[in-house]
Amino acid sequence: MGAPDDTAGRPPSRPATPGEGTEASRYAPPRGRIHPDTSRSWLRRALPVVAAHKWTVAIALGCSFVGLVLQVQIPNLLNEAITNAVQHHRTSLATYVWEVLGFGVGAGVAAFVSRLYLMRTAYSMEYDLRHLLYEHLTQMSFSFYDRVQSGQLISRANSDVRSVNLYLTFAPAILVQCAVAVVAFGYMLAISVPLAIVAMVTMPLVYVAGTRMRKILFPVSWLIQARLAEVATIVDENVNGVRIVKAFDAEARELRALARAATRLRWANVRDYDLRARYTPAVQNLPQLGLALVLLVGGELVIHGQLGIGAILAFSAYIVMLQAPFQMLGQLIMMGQRAAASAGRIYELIDEQPDIVDAPDASPLGAVAGDVAFEDVAFSYRGDLPRALDGFSLHLRPGETVALVGRTGSGKSTVARLIARYYDVTAGAVRIDGRDVRSVTLSSLRDRVGIVLDEPFLFSTSIRDNIAYGRPGASLAEVEAAARAAQADGFIAELPNGYDTVVGERGYTLSGGQRQRIAIARTLLVNPPVLVLDDATSAVDVQVEQAIHEALAHLLGGRTTLIVAHRLSTISLADRVVLMDAGRVVAEGSHEGLLEREPLYVEVLAQAEHTEEVA
Ligand SMILES: Nc1ncnc2c1ncn2[C@@H]1O[C@H](COP(=O)(O)OP(=O)(O)OP(=O)(O)O)[C@@H](O)[C@H]1O
Ligand SMILES: [Mg+2]
Repeated sequence: MGAPDDTAGRPPSRPATPGEGTEASRYAPPRGRIHPDTSRSWLRRALPVVAAHKWTVAIALGCSFVGLVLQVQIPNLLNEAITNAVQHHRTSLATYVWEVLGFGVGAGVAAFVSRLYLMRTAYSMEYDLRHLLYEHLTQMSFSFYDRVQSGQLISRANSDVRSVNLYLTFAPAILVQCAVAVVAFGYMLAISVPLAIVAMVTMPLVYVAGTRMRKILFPVSWLIQARLAEVATIVDENVNGVRIVKAFDAEARELRALARAATRLRWANVRDYDLRARYTPAVQNLPQLGLALVLLVGGELVIHGQLGIGAILAFSAYIVMLQAPFQMLGQLIMMGQRAAASAGRIYELIDEQPDIVDAPDASPLGAVAGDVAFEDVAFSYRGDLPRALDGFSLHLRPGETVALVGRTGSGKSTVARLIARYYDVTAGAVRIDGRDVRSVTLSSLRDRVGIVLDEPFLFSTSIRDNIAYGRPGASLAEVEAAARAAQADGFIAELPNGYDTVVGERGYTLSGGQRQRIAIARTLLVNPPVLVLDDATSAVDVQVEQAIHEALAHLLGGRTTLIVAHRLSTISLADRVVLMDAGRVVAEGSHEGLLEREPLYVEVLAQAEHTEEVA
């Protein structure tokens, strides 16, 4: 199994599922990155992401500006039309009508193009942000996933990305609107300075009232978010844990919990609308005050012949037009606060570096004989936790099958995880063919070391795709051979669609033993020279297990195998048995020898047999 074979066996596309092979070409990597300098403000760190879309942003903002400027002309045209055509018959009315129509259509087209490009930017930037985050998450090490809650991660990837993105795309658009408000004010000044000042009197009020309303609504909207998450968590746990809920007859209790959470959510929503109902009419009707003032002052000016009647018409249109930017300015501040908080949460993830990475001078692990050595290894999962391994030394010779036996919690799975460098040792070293696992590339190491865990996770795809997970290009014949070795071919043949049967979520439509055998086949297909079976056959019948190990010995001999086992039948397959306790090896030898000498060994086996009988 040299490297050329590996690549030959992995064409880029998987024929079984059409379309997946084009992933690489269809999904481009994100175009911008978050700036790594943590001393910058959140916005400056996010700028490279915006800059990557500068052309669509520029088109969107440019068109928005043009559209708004065209729109601003219309009230002024009305003013001129009334003065020149309606009152004094100096020009034809039709010209103005056509002009108003033309400006209106132009503004509409510009707004359409602007909106199109703004949304295009918004969605491709959202794609970039999500991609960045997900890419980062896939690089994170096991220790990270031991610590974080998946629900939290999902919420950051969803709502936090959205609120940051909302600000990045809409803040510039709102600023353009405000700039246009200045242009409009210029026109108003040109028509009549005193009236322009009167008209603007209410604008600060619109801003203040809008800001005040949002300040009051802000805590409530956070409350709604939190309570939505609460309801979502209950629903999520009830769907995922439905088997436990039903087994303990807890449906009524869970429903009550859901009802309580839903009631709290309803209270927050009602409160939100209650507050909105009080403020919205005030904010929305403030322009009427402006209109009244314009009518009062403007009307006086018209009566005294200092102003044309068209000016009043133009001003009332401007007042309505100016309202939106002033309201949105307040909204912008609010969006900024929320986006800053969200960005903080996203950066917290992005700034965390994976602790298990390739060393700068790492080289690929070539073909290996399968010599695995633990040299006086000490390990603890976290600095503040006691050591899971302490002074652990073990040597597996190439081609040897070793059974690792010990009480629960003695560190057997930890040993398995360290071979594939899921974690780094605290002291000592793990070597494969004499090379420290920290000095080789992670991908070459994990290609050479296959681990089958006791809790097999299957994806909700076909059995064939599940088995071929590590080698998507494998032929059906290869998949079948792996399934045969894992003693899975028999039950797969009996399934309605054979290898094309789609398993339920996490493989729940299969029995525990069936799932374990698929997981074994999945690892066998990769054909790793070092194989670790961590309680991988605990749910399989003794006879089937025997057959699996026989197949392993015959078909795929020559590999180094570490079997974490409790059962006598499994242990008897091993060349050597290693007994561990409290994170270190306490004895090793043949099964018979240990049985004679080691009371702990007898105890562990007796415990296993007992559990087996009970189960
Ligand atoms: N991800 C983890 N984070 C923190 N501590 C852990 C983690 N996994 C295991 N431990 C702790 O490390 C110790 C060894 O656990 P390990 O899983 O290696 O035991 P084991 O021998 O495989 O037990 P079992 O037979 O029950 O599978 C235990 O005290 C356990 O609580
Ligand atoms: Mg274990």
